[in-house]
Amino acid sequence: MPTVLITGCSSGFGLETARLFIDRGWNVVATMRKPQPDVLPSSERLIVLALDITNPDSVAQAVSNAGPIDVLVNNAGFGAPIPVELTPLETARALFETNTLGTLAMTQAVLPQFRERSAGVIINVTSTVTLRPLPLVGVYRASKAAVNAFTESLAVEVEPFGVRVRLVLPGRSPETRFGANAREHLYGMDHPAYAPLFQRVLAGFQDTTVPITRAPDVAQAIWRAAIDPTAPMRIAAGADAELWMAQAS
Ligand SMILES: NC(=O)c1ccc[n+]([C@@H]2O[C@H](COP(=O)([O-])OP(=O)(O)OC[C@H]3O[C@@H](n4cnc5c(N)ncnc54)[C@H](OP(=O)(O)O)[C@@H]3O)[C@@H](O)[C@H]2O)c1
Repeated sequence: MPTVLITGCSSGFGLETARLFIDRGWNVVATMRKPQPDVLPSSERLIVLALDITNPDSVAQAVSNAGPIDVLVNNAGFGAPIPVELTPLETARALFETNTLGTLAMTQAVLPQFRERSAGVIINVTSTVTLRPLPLVGVYRASKAAVNAFTESLAVEVEPFGVRVRLVLPGRSPETRFGANAREHLYGMDHPAYAPLFQRVLAGFQDTTVPITRAPDVAQAIWRAAIDPTAPMRIAAGADAELWMAQAS
């Protein structure tokens, strides 16, 4: 059975994706910053490894401990609801460090083995916010749009080596820990010029009366990217994401 390595499996899309691949008989290397094996069903086909994608030693160690893999899913990431004007450069650096450079570091770490075997799939999870100029997510959008950009070039570069590369773009999912994790980075809510925008946008973040994305939608899109060579380069995940993708094209 093939082996998939997934980043950010402690919660949300990563956790759901690990469950799906275990259910479908794959070997799963579920990685987390702080390993908690009990969040997943016990299985002899499951290994839980520590991995912080911003730490080069951690990346090297996890890829070495995982052994040969067939599919890499770069899912780990976080958001920060802040107007561009007020985004502390430290927060901007952290967003790019995790969402962009962490994804790049993992990609670079697995590519040599994929090239040598003339096989392998890299799936990078970005976001449909990259398709629309939404407020309060400017720098987060930029960090994910950068992943779209390098991933699409990479796909052209490694296709001759037999390596496939895909993007999965989820829509808004209030069900994961994304919102709670993002709130830890929220900044500028009491700024008089931006307070009304915050009130309007943050209320919308939690609205579940409109189409949203659920974790199984994302796991299913990642599954498709892994097994279906005819899947498009950009795969929308979730009812809202499919709508946005159709409108963007
Ligand atoms: N939920 C949404 O609305 C939404 C929409 C579009 C795209 N996305 C993207 O989908 C992905 C998964 O998000 P989610 O909704 O499942 O959110 P989540 O529940 O917050 O999960 C994010 C995961 O990323 C991990 N992570 C964060 N920084 C990391 C690092 N430096 N190294 C390794 N792991 C790290 C977190 O681990 P810890 O537990 O250690 O923090 C967590 O396991 C993210 O890339 C996110 O940007 C989310």
